[in-house]
Amino acid sequence: MSGEREIKERMLEELKAKKQKVLAMGGPKGIERQKKLGKLTARERIELLLDEGTFVEIGALVKHKGREFGLDKREIPADGVVTGFGKIDGRKVYVFSQDFTSLGGTLGEVHAKKICEVLDRAAKEGCPVIGINDSGGARIQEGVDALAGYGQIFFRNSIYSGVIPQICAILGPCAGGAVYSPALMDFIFMVEGISYAFITGPRVIKQVIGEEISEMELGGPIPQQEKSGVVHRVEKSEEECLRNIRRLLSYLPSNNLEDPPRVDVGDDPNRRDEGLFDIVPADPMKPYDMYDIIRRVFDRSPEGEEENYFDILPRFAPNIITCFARLNGYTVGIIANQPKFKAGCLDIDASDKASRFIRFCDAFNIPLINLVDVPGYLPGTEQEWGGIIRHGAKMLYAYSEATVPKITLIIRKAYGGSYLAMCSKDLGADMVLAWPTAELAVMGPEGAAQIIFREEIAKAEDKEKALKEKIKLYRETFANPYRAAESLHIDDVIDPADTRPMLIKALEASLTKRERRPPKKHSVPPV
Ligand code: HXC
Repeated sequence: MSGEREIKERMLEELKAKKQKVLAMGGPKGIERQKKLGKLTARERIELLLDEGTFVEIGALVKHKGREFGLDKREIPADGVVTGFGKIDGRKVYVFSQDFTSLGGTLGEVHAKKICEVLDRAAKEGCPVIGINDSGGARIQEGVDALAGYGQIFFRNSIYSGVIPQICAILGPCAGGAVYSPALMDFIFMVEGISYAFITGPRVIKQVIGEEISEMELGGPIPQQEKSGVVHRVEKSEEECLRNIRRLLSYLPSNNLEDPPRVDVGDDPNRRDEGLFDIVPADPMKPYDMYDIIRRVFDRSPEGEEENYFDILPRFAPNIITCFARLNGYTVGIIANQPKFKAGCLDIDASDKASRFIRFCDAFNIPLINLVDVPGYLPGTEQEWGGIIRHGAKMLYAYSEATVPKITLIIRKAYGGSYLAMCSKDLGADMVLAWPTAELAVMGPEGAAQIIFREEIAKAEDKEKALKEKIKLYRETFANPYRAAESLHIDDVIDPADTRPMLIKALEASLTKRERRPPKKHSVPPV
């Protein structure tokens, strides 16, 4: 009996030793280096991300398959990636976190297999996946096996798109083709000072085209959000980043067959706001901050959160706002023109930003609230030759395709094609409301008067006076909400003080709607 006990104790010790080796990751030197770079370790990140004590690791004991260039003699704990599942706010999520201390978190065959396992299980069980990237990319010593591993991940990122939310944090380097896994996921987070991503790095750029640039200037969080629109959120620290991933998930369902969780913060659904109308200047040429309206209309923030909305791509195309918020506890996706930037016009970047957001919301049963103050499309050769026709078409497409509740509120300007592109009734809006300041027309009164009354103005003695009169005439005829209300293009003109109660009523009415599109293999959006 005692012999048997001894054997079993030895077995347990062996297991413990193996687990300890894995938990030590790349060893004290590697961890020290990680800290010097200002980064947390792969395991610390998981601890911070998940509810305390909920992490269950999968595949800790794997061994890599590399045999060339000395890899056969090298141990890589967990093959450089920590994978498993746990909980966020009590809901199950899958997670993978690349461990830079173990051979640079590089991706070999087994490392990729672990990530694929996580993606497959998350899709099968219907829960979100969060990937933390911190890696030197494809493990060079494993050659094409490493490349194939990336291919298998890309395939899964693509086929599970729209099935489960896929969220990525790039918390270190992410170079070459490796960037395409994050790009195929729904949201990418980065942290100032430690994150960068690019297809070809500074060395190759210098060799090929002679340009000199640093890694951060090229692929850091600021350029990858402001210039390219690749990165959806830039955070100040890893802690803030992981906290905000948790916050983002609080707005989302676990999969496409569920509704988002309802969070009641006790904000009165009948709350009126007499001050709302003061935000919008009567002069249509004067800007204001659309966030001031969002702050006052939507549910106030839950305890401990600063803002009552969660911004997506705040520094890219700021002329349009895309964010999550709540109305009477229901998650909604807000698409709002921002008059503070470029007068809130639509351009290539704004169309890109909004259409992807609309498609995400539609895929995950998140109703859309559209706040409209749009003067038109941005004119110019840069826009035309950059393809504003096909990029702009994406918004029409995304709204038309979307079958979630769509509620549109016209606050001020709603001109021409951009009026349609912000989800008019014709594109399937379930309810369109307008403030008395709304102006719905083919174009602004100034431009319109000059075209339709050109001859009359030319003949007039006092041309300036004639133009002014014609502008006034056009404004009185069309640049108001009443013509549109007469023809049911809008459902009602409301007192702005009633905006919150009316949006809630409109939303709750359309939550039960059923809408089908013609069956097809898939659509062909104007990408
Ligand atoms: C094998 C690698 C590696 C790689 C880093 N390491 N990248 N090993 N394959 N791709 C190893 C290093 O040799 C080192 O090993 C350890 O990881 C840490 O790397 P360091 O270079 O010491 O770290 P640092 O100075 O911080 O530099 C990080 C780095 C640099 C900028 C990421 O390592 C780098 O440039 N790596 C190569 C990046 C790259 O070109 N990858 C291929 C991209 S193409 P020791 O022994 O010291 O622990 C790609 C194709 C994907 O990924 C295609 C998909 C379709």
